[in-house]
Amino acid sequence: MSSQVAMKSGEVPRYNANERVVHWVVAITFILAATSGLALFHPSFWFLTSLTGGGTWTRILHPFIGVVMFVFFMVMAARYWKDNIIQPYDREWGKRLSDVINNRDHNLPEIDKYNLGQKQLFWVMVATMILLLASGIVMWRDVAGTFPIVMVRIAAVVHALSAFVLIMGIIVHIYSAIFWVKGSLRAMTRGTVSHGWAKHHHPLWYRRVTGGGTK
Ligand code: HEM
Repeated sequence: MSSQVAMKSGEVPRYNANERVVHWVVAITFILAATSGLALFHPSFWFLTSLTGGGTWTRILHPFIGVVMFVFFMVMAARYWKDNIIQPYDREWGKRLSDVINNRDHNLPEIDKYNLGQKQLFWVMVATMILLLASGIVMWRDVAGTFPIVMVRIAAVVHALSAFVLIMGIIVHIYSAIFWVKGSLRAMTRGTVSHGWAKHHHPLWYRRVTGGGTK
């Protein structure tokens, strides 16, 4: 759907097909990397190896899935990098959390494409993805070569901690995308949001993409 057609039909374009495919590749590889990683981390998660072909395949596939996730995530991060730079109006928005939680958006400063929570989570994702890749490579002896044992031990701790932070962050991301901010999910499925959603949650962005439209 072209942006003009979408606008006319009462929808505001937010993500094109390419952006959505990249996002869902990251989401699927994240689930496979997280479940296979948890299975390798502790025996109580061993049942999750059934998602990645049993124990041996889980051990072989986990690092490759991680690399695919990292590459696709970085494509997405490069696209949204600028949109996630924290601005003075975001800090103001963040100081009025009671208005945010109680849905009193008219009391809040106008924000652009993402809110402060989304932006902070974005930078947590960037940092943990880099830490996961770097520590993962140090532990990936059969492919990446041999590192001193002390480095491998440090890498194991960094890998587990960053995975924990990322998994918690993604739980918050999924919760807010599906349940908290109603009307967000269609941005990543259909690619569009309603005029009401855009005006209500992201007024600066709405004016930018509609050229000040008041529909
Ligand atoms: C598996 C379930 C997931 C669902 C249902 C989901 C849903 C969504 C939705 C609806 C948006 C659009 C939000 C908006 O435009 O305001 C979005 C954006 C985004 N998602 Fe996801 N997502 C999922 C997994 C992931 C994963 C695993 C990652 C990364 C590890 C991720 C990274 C992002 C990023 C970076 C954005 C752009 C927003 C920003 O830059 O802050 N998502 N997601």
